[in-house]
Amino acid sequence: MHSLTIIQPDDWHLHLRDQNQMASVVNDTAQQFARAIIMPNLTPPIVSCSQAEDYRKRIMAAVNTPSFNPLMTLYLTDNTSPDEVKAASESAVIYAAKLYPAGATTNSDAGVTHIDNITSVLAAMQHYDLPLLVHGEATGDEFDVFDREKVFIDNTLVKIRKSFPELRIVFEHITTKDAVDFVISENESIAATITPHHLLINRNALFKGGINPHHYCLPIAKREIHRLALIQAATSASTRFFAGTDSAPHAQSAKQSACGCAGIYSAHAAIELYAEAFEQAGDFSHFESFMSLNGPAFYLLPANSRQVTLQKQSWIVPEKLTYGDETLVPFMAGKELKWKLKI
Ligand code: DOR
Ligand code: ZN
Repeated sequence: MHSLTIIQPDDWHLHLRDQNQMASVVNDTAQQFARAIIMPNLTPPIVSCSQAEDYRKRIMAAVNTPSFNPLMTLYLTDNTSPDEVKAASESAVIYAAKLYPAGATTNSDAGVTHIDNITSVLAAMQHYDLPLLVHGEATGDEFDVFDREKVFIDNTLVKIRKSFPELRIVFEHITTKDAVDFVISENESIAATITPHHLLINRNALFKGGINPHHYCLPIAKREIHRLALIQAATSASTRFFAGTDSAPHAQSAKQSACGCAGIYSAHAAIELYAEAFEQAGDFSHFESFMSLNGPAFYLLPANSRQVTLQKQSWIVPEKLTYGDETLVPFMAGKELKWKLKI
């Protein structure tokens, strides 16, 4: 196979940051994807519809592809009101709200401290059919970092599902076989995004030849059996797994520091990285569904009308990219990829 043409994909989980950093990265996404779900974990976070609308305007001002459509999200806190949920469900630009357990990841300090604090908000989301996007990791020092996704399923997600069976939930950036099995065991109101990096690396990559901060993200990469379960899910006929890069840029100086932050930048080669994972699995039969059909179907949106073509052509990922006034190191920097998107 030398070329692959598919309906244009969307990125169902993306961090764009703000201002000149956002301006440096947004076109990597806009030139590949038609739409992207934009994460609200800015400082301060996007907690209101008006903040989301303003942020969207700033994004559009930096985009070179005017047809690109950023789908905005709200950041849930202990103080989010059901009225804000109603307003979000009526907004033309907001498509979901994001649950960050407080302290679970980058810029999550303002997140939800206990799920019981947002019961009325979840009820409103179910009522107005606003999807809940979940960072599914338990917090608390008593939990091993590699177990946090499973503990979250057992302690929190099962409870949310029981209380709100009709609530549409996207279990974001899943990393474990437990999460795959959970999604499959549930009905069609729960789906999951899978990142290219969790399809391509396991936890060994964090330590290969020395500590590698550019492979550190949250949820952290797990054992090989979990990566294989993700590959199996992504390449399967199930319509409840779809692409969400979780591309999360951080300055090189912030990653390569004594306390390097979590996040992997993959937007520079997002579709190509997914193609690399499917190539390794030797099965492209559900590539278009995973990249371009399952996400829109879950979000009740039409699939895109354009098509994009990937060619079998090897290329080397740049070592560094510009990031505002700094640089960032992209995923697979200096490495060869086998597929190239025709832009
Ligand atoms: O690795 C991560 N980086 N995981 C997240 O959940 C947040 C993200 C970020 O914003 O940097
Ligand atoms: Zn994320």
